[in-house]
Amino acid sequence: MKDFETVKQEMWQQIVRKTGRMLEQIGGKSPHVAGQDGKYDDLRIDWWTSGFWPGLLWLMYDMTGEAPYRDAAWSWDERLSELWLAPNHYDHDVGFQFLPTAVIKHKLTGDPDAARRGLLAAGFLAGRFNPAGQYIRAWNGDKTGWSIIDTMMNLSLLFWASAESGDPRYGHVAGQHADMVVRHFVRPDGSVHHIIRFDADTGEAVEAIGGQGYAPDSAWSRGAAWALYGLTNTYRYTGRSDYLEAAQRVANFFIAHLPEDGVPYWDFRAEAVEAEGGIVRDSSAGAIAASGLLELADVLGDIRGRGYLEAAQRILRSLYTKYGTWNDPDHEAILLHGTGHKPASKNVDVSLIYGDYFFVEAVAKLNGWKNRIF
Ligand code: GLY
Repeated sequence: MKDFETVKQEMWQQIVRKTGRMLEQIGGKSPHVAGQDGKYDDLRIDWWTSGFWPGLLWLMYDMTGEAPYRDAAWSWDERLSELWLAPNHYDHDVGFQFLPTAVIKHKLTGDPDAARRGLLAAGFLAGRFNPAGQYIRAWNGDKTGWSIIDTMMNLSLLFWASAESGDPRYGHVAGQHADMVVRHFVRPDGSVHHIIRFDADTGEAVEAIGGQGYAPDSAWSRGAAWALYGLTNTYRYTGRSDYLEAAQRVANFFIAHLPEDGVPYWDFRAEAVEAEGGIVRDSSAGAIAASGLLELADVLGDIRGRGYLEAAQRILRSLYTKYGTWNDPDHEAILLHGTGHKPASKNVDVSLIYGDYFFVEAVAKLNGWKNRIF
């Protein structure tokens, strides 16, 4: 087996080659899923995944200094911001859309309009906070009491907004939501719920809902990945040890339940039930978790963080050697075998743009990238 130093450099060289081609193949599309034909779709830009392709472009620009990446990424925060005054579907996931566009653009170029766009999105996210239940509500329509684990990753937009504006209110909202997550979402064994429904009037927690996981008491792997990464970020922004303890608990559960090849099944507890038909993986959960584990290793330092660093390396090596499209130049995605929403039979065993983004992000971190997006 090759030593990881060699693999780390090899992965980056392949990413540079691959994303150069993706730039031509994807261009201004808003990609979400690529199926068997290897072609990314082009979704409406208020869909929660629209930030990942521009985020990947900004990251590549930051790492390589090559202008075509910047030029392709440049207008995305403007395009997204035009929708505020039109009918749109923006929700708890605006962090996924404005951190990899407006906020990183401001960080890398100093563009003041980009910062204003980021602050507008942060105000929208903070406005979704329900003080009775201390949660940021998920989705729109009549789901006024729903809160989901994915929101943990969006809290970085609020912490950034407090730092940028000098107003601590955004960070207070993020902290209170994270406290609620530690209380209601993270179980003692380190597995997490996907959805908790509250009574939106009284704030009382009513029930857990399976959502994109197999069942209310199961362990959706991507939810665990969002949780371990988001809790680590929240620790980094606040310095509070209870967030770090919860992040480690989730990370330990995640690592302990990885199959032989280090890439998670879509739900760790669906394994036994689906064994006969063959259970599918979710490579995106692996990529997200790997990037989050690198953060966890970083905040814990060389000795306490070593196990998390090694787990991230194990996942990335496997994604690189067994799940990549390196030998198929016409394939527009990087990773195969992602699973979007198994219970709805939607986007099962496909390529997902957020899997590609977080794989690139994790490998970039290993190769010295310091400008975090999340
Ligand atoms: N944020 C939705 C998902 O992870 O599928």
